Amino acid sequence: MLSVSGLTKKFEDLTVMEGFDLTVPRGGFTTLIGPSGCGKSTFFDVLTGVFPRDDGRISWLGEDVPDLMRRAAYMQQKDLLLPWLSLIDNAILPARIAGTDKKETLEKASGLFRRLGLQDFEHYMPRKVSGGMRQRCALVRTLMFDHELVLLDEPLSSLDAITRSGLQNLLLLLQSEFNKTILMITHDIEEALLLSDELLVLTPMPMRIRERFELKTPKRGRSRDPELLGIKDHVLEELEGDTDETL
Ligand SMILES: Nc1ncnc2c1ncn2[C@@H]1O[C@H](COP(=O)(O)OP(=O)(O)O)[C@@H](O)[C@H]1O
Ligand SMILES: [Mg+2]
Repeated sequence: MLSVSGLTKKFEDLTVMEGFDLTVPRGGFTTLIGPSGCGKSTFFDVLTGVFPRDDGRISWLGEDVPDLMRRAAYMQQKDLLLPWLSLIDNAILPARIAGTDKKETLEKASGLFRRLGLQDFEHYMPRKVSGGMRQRCALVRTLMFDHELVLLDEPLSSLDAITRSGLQNLLLLLQSEFNKTILMITHDIEEALLLSDELLVLTPMPMRIRERFELKTPKRGRSRDPELLGIKDHVLEELEGDTDETL
């Protein structure tokens, strides 16, 4: 499992988090939801070593690690595809830079393209395909490394509702078929309730866990579960309360 303890991050006199603790069980799908600007993306940047931290420990599978840079796949809100490369070339680029065998890498990417519904689009340029396809391609790129831990920062927030629900099913595949451990940030409470095993509601900065929900209903029947609807209303009220305070 992933365990973070006492994590502290400051930008000069701005304390984003202080003594932040979190655990994500191996194989689980944990989602963080919180008000905009509360420090969620900064947290992922600190976890992956993009930013240094001021204090705290990170451990993965029982071992202290400096950061998750080479231990986790990190997918951000923007697809960050290079416009001058085809989808397949975008998908294999990081693996190729890491020095993997070209033929094997291409075979693996093609398999993932098929599994994620992108067959026939391998040689399209990013601007010629929809946002949903670009995000699928970004997901392939994320899966090209065999990292068991996947960090997703609002991976679907730029997509329209219909595209989004197709992609939500693919995110579930990450867990059920690819056996990933997932830590996701979202601002969409419905998405969080559909996908997660555990939901953590965050406070405004300095970021803390305000509330934790374990979601045990099978994922197929969730949209009609009255208990989840209750949690949804409750969390929405909390998040709206935070917005009022900061106005
Ligand atoms: N590189 C940086 N330097 C200074 N402040 C930053 C930097 N990155 C983010 N921040 C600040 O940290 C706070 C949290 O930002 P962020 O982690 O992006 O929030 P969230 O992802 O929860 O919306 C914001 O006030 C933001 O302005
Ligand atoms: Mg963010």
